[in-house]
Amino acid sequence: MNEHAGHEELARRVREAKVRLGGNCLILTHHYQRPEIVALGDARGDSLGLSRLAASSGARHIVFCGVRFMAESAAVLARGGQTVHHPDPFSGCPMSDMADVEDVERAASELDDACGAGAWLPVTYVNSSAEVKALTGRMGGACCTSSNAEKIVRWALGGGKKVLFLPDENLGANTGARLGVDPREIVRWDYSLPSGGNDPDALRSARVILWKGYCHVHTLFTAAQVDDVRARFTGARVIVHPECSPEVVTRAGESGSTEFMVRYVESAPPGSTVVVGTELNFVRRLAAEHPDRRVVELARSMCPNMFKITLAKLLATLEGLPDANLVTVPEDVRRDARDALDRMLALS
Ligand code: 13P
Ligand code: SF4
Repeated sequence: MNEHAGHEELARRVREAKVRLGGNCLILTHHYQRPEIVALGDARGDSLGLSRLAASSGARHIVFCGVRFMAESAAVLARGGQTVHHPDPFSGCPMSDMADVEDVERAASELDDACGAGAWLPVTYVNSSAEVKALTGRMGGACCTSSNAEKIVRWALGGGKKVLFLPDENLGANTGARLGVDPREIVRWDYSLPSGGNDPDALRSARVILWKGYCHVHTLFTAAQVDDVRARFTGARVIVHPECSPEVVTRAGESGSTEFMVRYVESAPPGSTVVVGTELNFVRRLAAEHPDRRVVELARSMCPNMFKITLAKLLATLEGLPDANLVTVPEDVRRDARDALDRMLALS
């Protein structure tokens, strides 16, 4: 294949490959993908929607255009005989790398020592490795996404357990706030320190323990930017992703997953201005798809990992099926990670 072929030529060849593969192949695209990738997908969505599609699809091959943890989750949920392919194995998620399985194991044993085994449950954002999901499953915890975090944390707290929320501190803090958890009962777990930097009494009285992970794409947004867009666009609505800091979420007034943002813009009255605080490619696509509304980015912030999936890599994957860019998860990890994902799907 000519790596330097133009977009139109590559897109034409992707369409031809799709026709050849027929119903044997399903291309899933996350909302943050490049517009030319989203245009060629069979379905687009947020992490939760795509997990559901992966879990229910009968296609022989799922080609996942998103970051590594998303393709891995699809592989965990795949049926026997189904294969999952990720067009660029180096398209990872730095936030997911912030929860190393050995650090999480150490945290689990320190929390057991401080609070007693059975006093707490892990709630693990899907932006995590299959190994961390598997540990979550073994401990009776559940995964969550940005669209169901409230439900899952409510479930865990409702059972009288403390929650270790990982790896995204901001999503955990924003979810705790929505659920009305007293801020004095929320502590932060710094994985580089013994006991996460907490004394045992603080851990015993905490209800929510937040892992110190973050997404650089979303921590770039500031409350001052929200004030600035409100001054520039009178009457603008502002919506941000819950990976933004609690200060930004509070100042914006509205927050939700990428799918929630799609529906939010769709239901905004024509002529209105919606300022969106999340990944740039997604916001630009929303703007292009809704020319009768003014859709503006809160600031320019791109996910370089989502951007790694290109037409050339998608084409190489389709032409190389069934072997190209295969995602595999060891069977014992798959089984336990599946428990954590199934618990999430059942609760949401
Ligand atoms: P969504 O679940 O909203 O699609 O978000 C995934 C993500 O990685 C956001 O940074
Ligand atoms: Fe990970 Fe942030 Fe990119 Fe989402 S936007 S995939 S959390 S780096």
